[in-house]
Amino acid sequence: MVHGALFLLAAVATFHVSSEAEAPPLAPELSAEAREFLEAHNQARAAVGVEPLRWSEQLANVTSKLARYQRDKLGCEFANLSTGKYGANQLLAWGTAVTPRMAVEEWVKQKQFYNHADNSCVPNHRCGVYTQVVWRKSLELGCARATCVKEQASLTICFYNPPGNYIGESPY
Ligand SMILES: *[C@@H]1O[C@H](CO)[C@@H](O)[C@H](O)[C@H]1NC(C)=O
Ligand SMILES: *[C@@H]1O[C@H](CO)[C@@H](O)[C@H](O)[C@H]1NC(C)=O
Repeated sequence: MVHGALFLLAAVATFHVSSEAEAPPLAPELSAEAREFLEAHNQARAAVGVEPLRWSEQLANVTSKLARYQRDKLGCEFANLSTGKYGANQLLAWGTAVTPRMAVEEWVKQKQFYNHADNSCVPNHRCGVYTQVVWRKSLELGCARATCVKEQASLTICFYNPPGNYIGESPY
């Protein structure tokens, strides 16, 4: 990391209480960015024996619209997703460019706080971003990024369908 550079990251996840969803069809061919998001997720999933996600063009479109909105109207702030029908992870970074892999690896850092044996998280830490990444019943992924030049901020958003993080349910 460059000396003196401001580098701050913040991550948030959504939680769900109940819902049902069905899986839409596969995306035909993927951009390098999509592939990087997907591969980083699927590595974290494979590490705990969870099947891979597949890319959804529809979810990617939704996140891309949202990322543009947050950029144009809200200076790359976190989107308010408390009532969304998809699972969502977000990463806000200041003073640095964030690749898709960096964003996912930042989320996966929460793994160190997650105890799978009793599906718990170390007190005063958060695990929800990680548990969404490895949520077995989530089948599809779509992500987008936005950069705000004035704020020197960038926002990464991924949506998951069906959503994960059901309270009291183990991710895998
Ligand atoms: C996603 O957006 C692209 C470009 O706007 C469009 O061509 C495509 O039909 C959309 N796909 C879905 C599944 O919504
Ligand atoms: C997010 O949206 C919900 C529902 O619309 C609202 O109740 C809540 O206050 C909002 N939160 C923020 C931080 O704006």
